[in-house]
Amino acid sequence: MLILGIESSCDETAAAVLRDGNILLSNVINSQVAVHSPYGGVVPELASRKHLENIYPVVEAALKQAGVSLDDLDGLAVTQGPGLVGSLLIGLSFAKAISAVKSIPYVGVDHIVGHLLSPFLEKKQPEFPYIALVASGGHSSIFLVQDHTTIQPLGRTRDDAAGEAFDKVGKILGLEYPGGPVISRLAEQGNPAAIPFPRAWLGADSLDFSFSGLKTSVANYVHQHQQKNEPFNIPDVCASFQEAVVEVLCEKTLKAAQMHGISTVALAGGVAANSRLRAALRNLGAQRNIRIFMPSLELCTDNAAMIALAGYYHFAGKATTSFDTDAYSRSPFLHPDSVLAKSPPPSPAVRAQP
Ligand code: KG4
Ligand code: ZN
Repeated sequence: MLILGIESSCDETAAAVLRDGNILLSNVINSQVAVHSPYGGVVPELASRKHLENIYPVVEAALKQAGVSLDDLDGLAVTQGPGLVGSLLIGLSFAKAISAVKSIPYVGVDHIVGHLLSPFLEKKQPEFPYIALVASGGHSSIFLVQDHTTIQPLGRTRDDAAGEAFDKVGKILGLEYPGGPVISRLAEQGNPAAIPFPRAWLGADSLDFSFSGLKTSVANYVHQHQQKNEPFNIPDVCASFQEAVVEVLCEKTLKAAQMHGISTVALAGGVAANSRLRAALRNLGAQRNIRIFMPSLELCTDNAAMIALAGYYHFAGKATTSFDTDAYSRSPFLHPDSVLAKSPPPSPAVRAQP
């Protein structure tokens, strides 16, 4: 089964071609970092315009690199949400148009589901059930993944996402956007124990996160030093902040595994590219007999390969999406009581009449 995946939820326009759910034929990503960097964050209106400019050439490049044409495709998978609605609509409308013109069924995919299945794009794949931590710029959530389409949220952030905290701390320190990769690099020269920034545990059994207090604590530390004209060591701030995030992410994820008697954990999302987080989770996993899985670095941040993969499993469950389906900004699946079973919601088949 040959699937074209399309992703446009935030500031990456991406397209990928995946054969049979595990052979990645192409994975094209056009990043808008340079466009948004002067503003210190993603500007939604600029993002939509750039997606519009980029979507055609990015899809064309993905098909070309894969050596296939639209006529070879069995299905289209496109990010339906969560994300910036103006951006999502570009990918979604493009997929609907191809679907209608070429009579190829399409399926709307939840971006978070794409992230949490992304370890399946690697050779070494997790077994079910597993606990997944999705830590990105928009989300920090822990899930119990029963199978490819049955996913239960166990915990989520009550305020900032982990990646958002990295980006905001980067801004406080006057670093380039996005702050995550820059802080990660600077932290290598810093002392993670230099400054005792707070860890928000939120109660002994809580699997929720909170990073806004930590961000405020870093801001206070920096402003106090600036007001007193006292120098401070930026790599130490980066390493100490990063350590606080990593410790909470690791401990809560492993706690979820322990609480549910599960010995497999997967890490995904942009923050999963953080080398300290990867190493810390691997070490703790080895100590506690938990098998750890994570995608390679380029599959942690936003991409369409993970969307094609999630789409593959939707199609395998006979799901398709109707043309009147809209984009959504917030995931309906992140509510603690929801169980994402056989997503997306049942809708009539969409193979268009020629
Ligand atoms: O998954 P992603 O590409 O987009 C969202 O779905 O949000 O994640 C982007 C986030 C950004 O906040 C970025 O700063 C963060 O992932 N990030 C990192 C690293 N690389 C990307 N955070 C910490 N360390 C990194 N190496
Ligand atoms: Zn993402």
